[in-house]
Amino acid sequence: MNAGLEDVVAAQTVLSDVDGNNGRLIVRGVSLDALVTTSSYEDVLGLLFAGFFPKPAAMQAALGAARVAVFSHVTAADPALIALPPVDGMRALLARLGDSDDLDAALQLVAAPAVFIPALLRLQSDKPAIAPDPSRPHAADTLAMLTGAAPTDQQAAALDRYLVTVADHGLNASTFAARVVASTRAGLTSSVLAALSALKGPLHGGAPGPVLDMLDAVGIPEQAPAWIAAELARGERLMGFGHRIYRVRDPRADALKSAVRMLAQSGAIDPARLALAEAIERSALAQLKAKKPDRPLETNVEFYTALLLEALGFPRQAFTGVFAMGRVGGWIAHAREQAETGRLIRPKSVYVGPQPQEAA
Ligand code: ACO
Repeated sequence: MNAGLEDVVAAQTVLSDVDGNNGRLIVRGVSLDALVTTSSYEDVLGLLFAGFFPKPAAMQAALGAARVAVFSHVTAADPALIALPPVDGMRALLARLGDSDDLDAALQLVAAPAVFIPALLRLQSDKPAIAPDPSRPHAADTLAMLTGAAPTDQQAAALDRYLVTVADHGLNASTFAARVVASTRAGLTSSVLAALSALKGPLHGGAPGPVLDMLDAVGIPEQAPAWIAAELARGERLMGFGHRIYRVRDPRADALKSAVRMLAQSGAIDPARLALAEAIERSALAQLKAKKPDRPLETNVEFYTALLLEALGFPRQAFTGVFAMGRVGGWIAHAREQAETGRLIRPKSVYVGPQPQEAA
C-alpha cells in the first residue's frame, strides 16, 4: 500500500543533493570530495547560511562567541540531567535556548552540541566542564573542551573533516523533521529539537556504535572472514555497509577513510585497531559481493565514523551527539529555507481503516 510513498517530493532545496546513482554529495554546488579538501566547518556553515542569515564579519569569531554564550547553560546540568545518555542531556540543555530566528540564535544552536556534549561527558566522570576558548577554531575547541588539552593539528583536522562531511545530506529524517517544525513558524530551537529527536533513533544517527561492537566481536583480523560468514549465514546485516540511496559509493565514507589514514600516520590510531578494521572491510565487501552480486553494497559513512570518533576520544554513547555537532548546521539552513517559503508542510495520509457502520 505504501510502495512509492517515500518517493514523494516533500521540499525543494538549494542546500544539498544526494546523487545516489553517481555516488556524489553536492553541497550548494560544491561536491563533498572538493569541500573536504578546501573548507573548514566554519566555511561550510557560511556556505549553508548564505542568503538565509546576514554574513558575520568573521565566522570563526562569531561561532567562538556563541560557544561562550551557551556555556553559561552548563550550570543547569543537575545530577538527574547528567545521568541521562549524553544526547538526551544535550537536548534538555538545548531546550533552554530561546526560539528566535536570527543569526545569534542560529550560531548558539550550532555551538550548543559542541559545548554540551564534552561538558556532559566530563561531568559524568566527575570532572569539571571546561569553558570554551573563543579564539580557537570550532573543531579544535570542541576537542579541547573534551580532553582538557589542546589537540594536535591532525586531531583537530580529523574532527573538522568529520563535521564538514556530515553537515548536510538532503532530506534525511532529522532534516525533514526540522523543516516540518519550521513550516509551522515555531522557531529555530524548536526545529533543532525536533531534528535531534529524530536523529537519536537507531535507524538514523545510531549506527557507528554497533560498528565498534562488531570490531570488538571479531577481535583479530584472522577471525574476520569466519565471523562475517557466520553473521551473513544467520541473515544478519553487517553494520557500516550498504545505503538506501548511494548505489556506487558513499562519498562520505571516502572522505572519512582518508581522515582516518591521516590520523593513523600521525600515530593517533592504534595500528592494530586499523588493521582489524581494514581486514573486516575487505572481507565484508568480498562476501557481500558474492552474496548479492546484483546489489552494490559498499562501505558507508558509519564505518569510518566509528574509527575516527573512537580515535578522537569520544565514547560510543556520545557518537550521536557528535553527529549532531555537524548536522545542526544543515538543520538550521533547511529550517530557514522552509520558513522562507511561508508554506506549512501538511502531507495527506491514506485512510485504510474501517468505515462507520450506518444504521440500517
Ligand atoms: N549487510 C548484509 N546484507 C545487507 C546489508 C548489510 N549491511 N545491506 C543490505 N543488505 C541486503 C539486504 O538484506 C537485502 O537482502 P534481501 O534482498 O535478501 O532482503 C539486500 O541487501 C538489498 O538491501 P537494500 O534494499 O539495498 O537495503 P536497504 O536500502 O533496505 O537498506 C541500509 C539500507 C538500511 C543502510 C542497509 O544497507 C543496512 O541495514 N546496513 C547496515 C546498517 C548501517 O550501516 N546503517 C547506516 C547506514 S548510513 C546512514 O544511514 C547514515
